[in-house]
Amino acid sequence: MFQISSFGKKIGKVTGIGELMNDIGDAMQKPGEVILMGGGNPAKIQEMQEVFHSLLNEVSDLNRFSKIISSYDSPQGNEDFLQDVAKYFQRTFGWNITRNNVAITNGSQNAFFYLLNMFSGKFPDGSKKKILFPMVPEYIGYADQTLEEDTLRSYLPKIEYTGKHSFKYRVDFDALKIDESIGAICVTRPTNPTGNVITDEEMEQLLALAKEHDIPLIIDNAYGEPFPGILFRKTKTLFDKNIIHSFSLSKLGLPSLRTGIIVADEEIINMISNINAVVNLASGTFGQVLTNKFFAKNKITELSENIITPFYKKRSQEALELIRRYFPDDLPYYVHENEGAFFLWLWFPNLPINNYELYRRLKSRNVYIIPGCYFFPGCEENSEMKNECIRITFSQDSALLEKGIKILAEEVTKLYRGE
Ligand SMILES: Cc1ncc(COP(=O)(O)O)c(C=O)c1O
Repeated sequence: MFQISSFGKKIGKVTGIGELMNDIGDAMQKPGEVILMGGGNPAKIQEMQEVFHSLLNEVSDLNRFSKIISSYDSPQGNEDFLQDVAKYFQRTFGWNITRNNVAITNGSQNAFFYLLNMFSGKFPDGSKKKILFPMVPEYIGYADQTLEEDTLRSYLPKIEYTGKHSFKYRVDFDALKIDESIGAICVTRPTNPTGNVITDEEMEQLLALAKEHDIPLIIDNAYGEPFPGILFRKTKTLFDKNIIHSFSLSKLGLPSLRTGIIVADEEIINMISNINAVVNLASGTFGQVLTNKFFAKNKITELSENIITPFYKKRSQEALELIRRYFPDDLPYYVHENEGAFFLWLWFPNLPINNYELYRRLKSRNVYIIPGCYFFPGCEENSEMKNECIRITFSQDSALLEKGIKILAEEVTKLYRGE
């Protein structure tokens, strides 16, 4: 084999989560019923699929179609889309922004590769900086994106018990240590994997810390407001020179269009656009043109509020109901308050086996979950919680979800009862 650079070795290695995703890929080829409660795919909501399908008619005219497919857009994005997205955010949130504050990337994952590397690693003054996740568990997709080693720092949350079997994580501001070694603060809101929504007060405190240290606060709204709106409590969405917002069309039901939207200060947008030119030349045009009028006419808010939010809210309630039905009440299990996104985060304190072994047991029964140990990027502190939690998704078929939760409950009950 050729010699490979440190970059190649770091980014090109097989990651733990990559192996699990391969497992899921293999599972889908297996004969028989496989219950996938692991991945991050959005639900195929019939009404939304029909709306998306109808958009195709509008680009079917040959002239319009060739205009879309035969040229690169500018690296910042498609001009009409940039304008309409900026106006949409002005109307929706009253933000004082223009198209100069918007950049389009090939999915928000792509944007995070740029952002996490813009604010971590070696700096021109010789310092080395890290991305701070003020509260883990956090999105698994950040874990392997930075080019340099040791560039993530995160803190465990405070736990607030909200019921016999429920809890909510809170940012532990007493533990957070921010000094010149931190290049940016980053949060998902709602959080994948926990379904937590960081409160408005916590967001204001994080913004105050970002301003005090003159660093950005990166907010990943992949599931959040104003679209796709998979959150079940109202929040304030602030804009500020220190905030970098990331949005995505994926969880609306369009992950294959690979369209991420960054809203930030002009200087940051210029850099993202310049990096995009180097890495991609330009982002894909199709998703931008196809959904342009959703933004121009506020339809995206309407679809989110009228179809997507109620759909996932109902699914969330069903999933919680199934947990209550199949997990014996005397078991010491906990579910994180589901305030948004389409995952349940389950915590099994003192389970006799760790979550990876639980994953393997469930896999042998054709049920796939994600062990929670992968959601602690940059966490130096030891915590049993890393080995005691799992993430399941409720975005998939309801009947399969019920079977999956039933099998999960059977396995966990056997383990707790020593059977
Ligand atoms: C929290 C979060 N951020 C970002 C992404 C990346 O999404 P995309 O690149 O499809 O926009 C995901 C995908 O699962 C996610 O869960």
